[in-house]
Formats: sequence, structure tokens, C-alpha cells
Amino acid sequence: MVNFLNSKLIQNKSELKEFLGKLNHQQIALVPTMGALHAGHLSLVEKAKTLADQTVVSIYVNPSQFGENEDLDSYPRTLENDLAKLSDLGVSAVYAPGNEQVYPEGFQTYVYNNSLSNDLCGASRPGHFQGVCTIVLKLINLMQPKWVVFGKKDYQQYKIIEQMVRDLDLDTGIVGADLVRDSHGLALSSRNKNLNEDQKKLALSLYQTLQLGKQIVQQGERDPSRVVDILKKKLLEVDGITLDYLEMRQADDLSASSPDSVVDSILLGAIKVGSTRLIDNMPLS
Ligand code: PAF
Repeated sequence: MVNFLNSKLIQNKSELKEFLGKLNHQQIALVPTMGALHAGHLSLVEKAKTLADQTVVSIYVNPSQFGENEDLDSYPRTLENDLAKLSDLGVSAVYAPGNEQVYPEGFQTYVYNNSLSNDLCGASRPGHFQGVCTIVLKLINLMQPKWVVFGKKDYQQYKIIEQMVRDLDLDTGIVGADLVRDSHGLALSSRNKNLNEDQKKLALSLYQTLQLGKQIVQQGERDPSRVVDILKKKLLEVDGITLDYLEMRQADDLSASSPDSVVDSILLGAIKVGSTRLIDNMPLS
């Protein structure tokens, strides 16, 4: 276990046990991350600090949530910078395990969500949410946190984890924290690091389209497919991006929206700019 300023860097399960053993039943709020921390992550940490005595941040680029042709190898890994950012925030510990700690030789059990995981992002990223659920369940089992904080930028992930916690009777509360945007409106994401200035401008088209969708609903349109058709047409006209999906769903369970539920719905979209896949969403309430 290494100390960095007032916090501890823990890199294996025995050190983690030792740390947890000394907590004297104080409650933990956990912020699971894959590192490359930005202001969005730091807002999750601030939220976690209000929930429990001890805040733990995990930093682990989880291979099982990346598909074969995805960006596991190029995903930004910036542990030193991340620790520097966290050291000012007064987190109790950072858990940054190696792959051998998480998936030791012979590992073979994964958590499978049967429905939501195959939809939206899951439709173009088969196996992604199985990897997410598996690592999050492992972290919850190891640390028994009272709370786990997720960013609502990954809205589908947040909803799937809520479902997992209900389905598997986990004694942990899931807290969603609001999405954070840069001054232009671009949703903060570790993958934004892969975008050049022109690509950042293109990436904004998703946010602008979602905003337009919100305006259309505020002006009284109640037909979900009409709203979605307008927005998709607009995005398909933008040169330099590829549309993966743009959908309107009920915000509580991501089921299909109807005219009666439009105001309780959320718009969700995914695009590719170059080889970088970006997601964003906008609640319509
Ligand atoms: O949202 C993320 O960064 C990851 O999917 C998570 C929850 C840390 C699991 O690896």
C-alpha cells in the first residue's frame, strides 16, 4: 500500500482487505472509474464524499467490457495524473488493481443481464455490459460499499447497474450524478482526449441535436417517432460523423416512449467521430 498525500494507493486484494479491516465499520461510498479522470469524475467524488465517511475511487481499465475491435489498447491510462487530481479531494483510498488481481488465470464467471444489455449501446457493443456488471459486482463484493456513484452520461450503464443490484439483492445504494459538459456543451468523457479540435466541433453535433429534440418536445410535439426521425435526419446530414443510434426511451427503465410518457423520457444517442465512439443523452422532463 503506497501513501499519496493523505490517501492510499492500493493495488491488490490483500492490501484492500487490510485497509477495509481498519475502517471499524465506517461506511464507504465507491466511485468506480477507468481512470483518465476529468471534471465529470471529480464531481462523482464530490458527490460520494457527501454520502459516507470514506470515499474510495477504483481505477481499472476493465478488459472484459471492450469488444475485440474496440479501443482497449489505446484507452488513456494516466494513473499518476489521476492520483494527483484525487489527492486534493481527500479520498480515503484509490484501488487500482492489475489484471491478475481481477481476472486471475482460470477466471470463468461473468454476470449476464438478459434484456437491457442487448439494447442501445449493447446492440453495437455485444458483451460490453456483461463486462461492466462483472467488474462492478466484484468491486461491490470486495468493498461492500453503502453507496456506489455513477455518472448519468453512461445512462444505460447506470440503469443496468440499478437493475443488477435489485435482481441480485445487493445491499448497496446506486446513486446517479448529473452529466458534466465543457463550456461548449460537449459531454465530458475520457475518450474526448482522442479528439482533435475539428473532431470536437463535429462531436458537438450530437449535443446540439439532443438540445433540438428537447426544444421540439417543449414546443408540444408528443410523437416519439416524429421527434426521433427529425433528429436522426439532422445527424445523418453531418459530414464526418457516423450515427450509431438515436432513441427516445422512458427515463425510469429505458422502455419505449409513448405520447403519454414523452415528458418522462430521455433522448439517448451514440456517434462515431473518426474511430472514437461518443455517447450523450438529454432528459426531457
Ligand atoms: O463507466 C466506467 O468508467 C466503467 O464502465 C466502470 C463503471 C468503471 C466499469 O469498468
